[in-house]
Parts: sequence; structure tokens; C-alpha cells
Amino acid sequence: MAAPERIEELKSAALAEVATAGSTADLEAVRVRYLGRSAELTEIKKSIGSLPPEERREVGGSANLASREVEAALGSRTEELAAAEREERLRREAVDVTLPGVPHKRGSLHPSQRVIDEVVDFFVGLGYGVAEGPEVETDYYNFTALNIPPGHPARGMQDTFFVDEGVVLRTHTSPVQIRTMLSQEPPLYIVCPGRTYRRDSDPTHTPMFNQVEGLAVDRGITLSHLKGTLAAMSRHVFGGDADIRLRPSYFPFTEPSVELDVSCFVCGGDDPNCKVCKGAGWLEMGGAGMVDPAVLSEVGYDPEEYTGFAFGMGPDRMAMVKYGIPDLRLFFEGDLRFLRQF
Ligand code: PHE
Repeated sequence: MAAPERIEELKSAALAEVATAGSTADLEAVRVRYLGRSAELTEIKKSIGSLPPEERREVGGSANLASREVEAALGSRTEELAAAEREERLRREAVDVTLPGVPHKRGSLHPSQRVIDEVVDFFVGLGYGVAEGPEVETDYYNFTALNIPPGHPARGMQDTFFVDEGVVLRTHTSPVQIRTMLSQEPPLYIVCPGRTYRRDSDPTHTPMFNQVEGLAVDRGITLSHLKGTLAAMSRHVFGGDADIRLRPSYFPFTEPSVELDVSCFVCGGDDPNCKVCKGAGWLEMGGAGMVDPAVLSEVGYDPEEYTGFAFGMGPDRMAMVKYGIPDLRLFFEGDLRFLRQF
């Protein structure tokens, strides 16, 4: 068949297929079949050069025209189909925003965690940083660096869980003081919340309990800074009327050392039958003191230039009195009936 007729035929066939294509994918197939690299029309165009000169113009012209027409038909049909496909997809993926949501059960914070957050928030507000350390600790950080050398009787004050030779479950958060001082230069202001462990179990002691340690090292820090800081912290956690009392005590890593008591926020010391303070008017919250110069030297701080205070509080104990809970063991037994009350 002469080329021009064949071109006409191919064109009509292509246009017919374009018209009946049902999807953009079908159209792509039509494009490949009629305009692709090995399509017959393309072959015809390629062979124009070898036609007798008088035929070239006519064959070339109608081949180009046919390609353009098919191209144009493909283009407009593609647009139509793409629009329809988009419509269809939007309809299929539509979300009914009026459907009621799926309710999620909300948990709540553990009473100890609430007190920890309150204490930490208070110190962060004063510009303290938060530091943490490992719960499995070496003898060096837990004892020796804190001025409790091997054989020191104070090691017996804390019924230690031993993991391995020279490795313990930390008995307090004070090793975080050492770790932080060894890695940072003074001035230093940090709070260190964390879990601690001692072989102990009765209504006010559990083998695992929380502590919040605090440490401030700077030039000119005195015991009155410690007292003012603890007083402000107590008012933040226990309310504006809370008062504090420091009693002389002993810790190997502080000198002088004190015991921190907070006034009973239930009776304020006025009720001899108060269930919370048992009539004492005061509640024990933790230990504190001025960092012993031997500890500062151990971490390479100059005790002639710097002084510091440190404290360690028991947020579980604080939560017990704050929420009137009689037995500390309830905190860690995971009984939902207990926990749901908070
Ligand atoms: N680490 C002490 C303890 O757990 C508490 C403490 C901390 C005392 C910091 C003084 C200074 O018993």
C-alpha cells in the first residue's frame, strides 16, 4: 500500500483507540504503539530519506501531520482521564471527619514522679542543670570518691547490693556529683533525680527508691545558701507555709552535715495527735551539707577557691506525706487500684 494511505489508516486507528481508552495507562500504551520508537509511523518517517525525491514532501508532510494529530488527541484525552481518575481517588480516600473519635485511656503520673517533677522544675527555674548517672555503679563513684574509702565504717550505713567485685547498685545519687564534677569545671549547679537501691524493706523503706540529689559549687557558697535554697524548694513543693529545720548530722562527703526536716504541712506542729508527723511537727526529707574539701580535691577542684553545698532528698518519702500514704511499699507494687487514685 502506498505510504500516504497507510499513514491515514494508522492515524484513524490511533485516534479510534485514543477515543476508547479507559485509563491514562491505556493511553500510554496507545502512545507507545503508534508513536513509539518502533511504531510503524515512526518507521515510515525514518524511511523518508530513501524515498524518491518527489514523494518525500508529501509522505513527510502527512506523517508529521498524523503524528501531531494523534499527539494532540492523546494530550486532551489524557487530561480528561487524569481529571476523572483524580476525582475518583478523592472520593475513595475521603475521610468522614464527623465520625466520633476513638477514645484513648489516659494514664497519670506516679506520685513519686509528681514530686520529682516538682523538685526538678523548681531547680531548673533557678538555673540548675539536670544530670543523670548509671544505676549500676562502681565502688569508686559510689563510695571511695565520696570520701568513703574501703573499710570505712560509713559503708555499713547503707546496706549495699553488690553486683560484682567493685560493682554495686548505687546506694544513693551522690555518685552523680562525682561524675559531673569530673566532667565539668565549676561553677556548677545541678539536680540529679534517679533510682537508688538498698537492702531494706519495711513500711518506710523499699529496696528500690528514688532520690533527688542537688549540688552547687561556686566561689563563696555557704551553709546559708543551702538553707535558703532548701527553704524555697520546700515552699514550692509543700506550699507557702512550709518551714524547714536543719539538724546536725553526719555524712562522710559533707562537712558540716545536716538532716533536712520540713514542718508538717498538715498540722503545722499544732496537733499532738497528727497522723502525718505523729505529733513531732517536723518531717524528715533528706540529708545535706557543705561538700567536704576532700571530695572537691578528689575531682580536681581547688577547695581553697571553691565551696559547695549538696543535698539528697527522698521524693518517695515526700510523696508519702504529701498524699498521706501510710506504706511506701504500695508505691512499687504496681497495684492499679492504688495507682488509679492519682
Ligand atoms: N547521699 C546521702 C544519702 O543517701 C544524702 C546526702 C546527699 C547527704 C548529699 C549529703 C549531701 O544518705
